[in-house]
Amino acid sequence: MAVTKVVRYLRLVTVNQQRVARKRTYLMCPPEHFTVEYAINPWMDPQTPVDPELAVKQWDRLRETLTGLGHEVFVLDPEPGLPDMVYAANGAFTVDGTGYGARFKHEQRAAEAAAHQAFYRERGWRFVAPLRTNEGEGDFAYLPAAHGGLILAGYGFRTELPAHAEAQEALGRPVVSLNLVDPRFYHLDTALAALDDGNVGYFPGAFSAASQQVLAQLFPDAVLADDTDALAFGLNLVSDGLNVVLNSEATRLAGRLRAVGYQPVPVELAELKKGGGSVKCCVAELRP
Ligand code: ARG
Repeated sequence: MAVTKVVRYLRLVTVNQQRVARKRTYLMCPPEHFTVEYAINPWMDPQTPVDPELAVKQWDRLRETLTGLGHEVFVLDPEPGLPDMVYAANGAFTVDGTGYGARFKHEQRAAEAAAHQAFYRERGWRFVAPLRTNEGEGDFAYLPAAHGGLILAGYGFRTELPAHAEAQEALGRPVVSLNLVDPRFYHLDTALAALDDGNVGYFPGAFSAASQQVLAQLFPDAVLADDTDALAFGLNLVSDGLNVVLNSEATRLAGRLRAVGYQPVPVELAELKKGGGSVKCCVAELRP
């Protein structure tokens, strides 16, 4: 009898995890000029050939997946000579109608920032141009329902720590700094993702011991990924609160998400992985 009770209780717990999708607005940039001609992260190898047609096809599938889920996708014009522009998440970070602009660490990507800035300014967003090096939503995540609205920010490889304070001043939300320590997880969004308004998924091994402690304290119910799924860019995902669009290779993470009530939506992005990114890198969320 005790066993039946336990089983019943567990079923209730699962059934009670009612996840709700919220309609989102995203910004993406097609990989028309995508190549791997320089190496600024450990995933990039200019010797490995890229199939440009396949890259475009996979990117199209990702865009269709997001619109198919009912979301709105704005498209930024790609510019020749900016092969990494497809990773639109890096161009800015928005919270409640304010855009905090990017300032890229590497010269090769520097010009992308102006294209993003123009997009926001043309649409009447309040926009704060940064003085500090930061790579937009690649290193910032927003959790509107965590502690009244919390920004998580990564540092260690791309975004510099003073940019976290600058973002806090620009956006008026508390920023929690997290130290990235593994070069393969060089942006926050390669190792951590917002799953809904209040919870995250992450790979602990990408963070310093102290930052792991901070994450465990803030998010006791987080979904954790193992190293295999994290290295398959499983955490580089886009979630609307219910549907979690993620790299198809991250099968165990998909199972863990399903077990707690999310709906995994796998997509193939093998070509864009050669540049060191997956789903989330290609998608900036616009929070008007
Ligand atoms: N090749 C790009 C870079 O190294 C990839 C950016 C990936 N974007 C991201 N949000 N993690 O900058």
